[in-house]
Amino acid sequence: MQARGSLRILCALCCALVARSAHAQIAQSDYAARRTALVTSLPTDGVLLALGAREPRDNHLAFWQSQDFRYLTGFDEPDAALVMIRRGGEVRGLLFVPPRDPAMEVWTGARLGVEGASARTGLEGRDARTLDTTLDSILSSIGRGTLYAVGDFGDATGPQTPDDQLLAQLRARHPSLSVRDATASVLRLRSVKSAAEQELLRTAAAISAAAHRDVLGSIGPGRNEYEVEALAEFTFRRQGADGPAYPSIVGSGPNSTTLHYNRNDRFMQDGELLLMDMAASYGAYTADITRTVPVNGRFTEDQRAVYEIVLEALVHAEGQVRAGAPWKQPSDSATAVIQRGLARLGLIEAPNATYGCGSEERPQRCPQVALYYMHSLSHGIGLDVHDPDVSAQTGMMTPGSAFTIEPGIYVRAGTVEIIPATRENAAFRARIAPAVRRYANIGVRIEDDYLITDAGVERISAGAPREVEEVERAMATRRRSAVRDTAMARARGSLRPDGATR
Ligand code: GLY
Ligand code: MN
Ligand code: MN
Repeated sequence: MQARGSLRILCALCCALVARSAHAQIAQSDYAARRTALVTSLPTDGVLLALGAREPRDNHLAFWQSQDFRYLTGFDEPDAALVMIRRGGEVRGLLFVPPRDPAMEVWTGARLGVEGASARTGLEGRDARTLDTTLDSILSSIGRGTLYAVGDFGDATGPQTPDDQLLAQLRARHPSLSVRDATASVLRLRSVKSAAEQELLRTAAAISAAAHRDVLGSIGPGRNEYEVEALAEFTFRRQGADGPAYPSIVGSGPNSTTLHYNRNDRFMQDGELLLMDMAASYGAYTADITRTVPVNGRFTEDQRAVYEIVLEALVHAEGQVRAGAPWKQPSDSATAVIQRGLARLGLIEAPNATYGCGSEERPQRCPQVALYYMHSLSHGIGLDVHDPDVSAQTGMMTPGSAFTIEPGIYVRAGTVEIIPATRENAAFRARIAPAVRRYANIGVRIEDDYLITDAGVERISAGAPREVEEVERAMATRRRSAVRDTAMARARGSLRPDGATR
């Protein structure tokens, strides 16, 4: 086991307000290097076609660029396509974009158009309306060639996406063309985060941590989960983030034990826990932070017992993080801590105990720990909140890696009902029932974000309090200042006595 202090943590600065002006940028030379790396990694000469996201047609949905396309071009407007031609050591890149249309810009706002896109990216710009004819002419000239495609492709059983249809038409017009999906090659490149990407992740995590601190004064019995969600997302935008990186999870009491809860509309009650999985996207890069706090500002003895197991699992896991170590090690270590803790609380029979989880026809054994800890410890972060990560891909922790560590214990009131009511399981069900009643509705997850760089390991979400005393102190301080603000507002006459605005 690694002592906590042995981890080389270069903590992000926990400043109260992370002042941001314009987004830090990925340099155009970085995008060019990514395109070159992709095209040269392809097994043969041929044509790479990467399709950007399309303009949403209905309901004024916000445009969000395809992450693979953004990764290759940095171009953030709809209906674009990248074509790269690799032939005999020569590489040529074309960016197809809709031409400017002043009448449409009344609705959409200014667009870059062909010249603007070319100036912005350094790629040869083309009118998107000529994509088909240009591809036809390139593909005809290379004869029996290979088209490597990157886009939004459905699976064979689902409905065809517009990108599927475009490829089907190309295949029909060029029957001897071999078409290969090159998405995996882009994901491999995306799994290693450059210095500029790491910087965007640091900012996303610092803003997210600031939001986790900001909400602490507004948590209390009678407050609603949606107030916390709204306040966190206010901080995200106020500090220059794109917005929430994923739908915020703000779950109190029983909701803290539902992994994908996001209705966020329950009034919190005294004596409950509040689990908050909320983080910002900044410059399109996403953090992913969870904190669990007591609604009334003080952990009960039982809540604290569960919380401390999860925290110990997290600390043990992060103690295993170092370049060159096996990727699986932190997960094994966290699971062992949780198993021991659950056995101590009487929620499982023994650390490695199993139970019969199959049917009579297909008997199967499941680890008892999975009744309370049923997700993986970690995933990559980056452009997507679940991003490809080099350490997970190679099985060895590697510089350029960006990932979460997020152990949890979720005691649902109905845990015993998950266990099949067979004769074999009867004793197990009876044995854990009192502990399940005791710890029911305690759901705890603590999730932090990490980078492995050449300089060591950074916990970039360190600005969000996570130690028991730190959480309780921060809640008390924030609530005192919230009460003071309310009293001052009331004295100014801008608040009604019930706290509502006039
Ligand atoms: N917030 C999504 C996750 O933790 O994976
Ligand atoms: Mn996560
Ligand atoms: Mn999360």
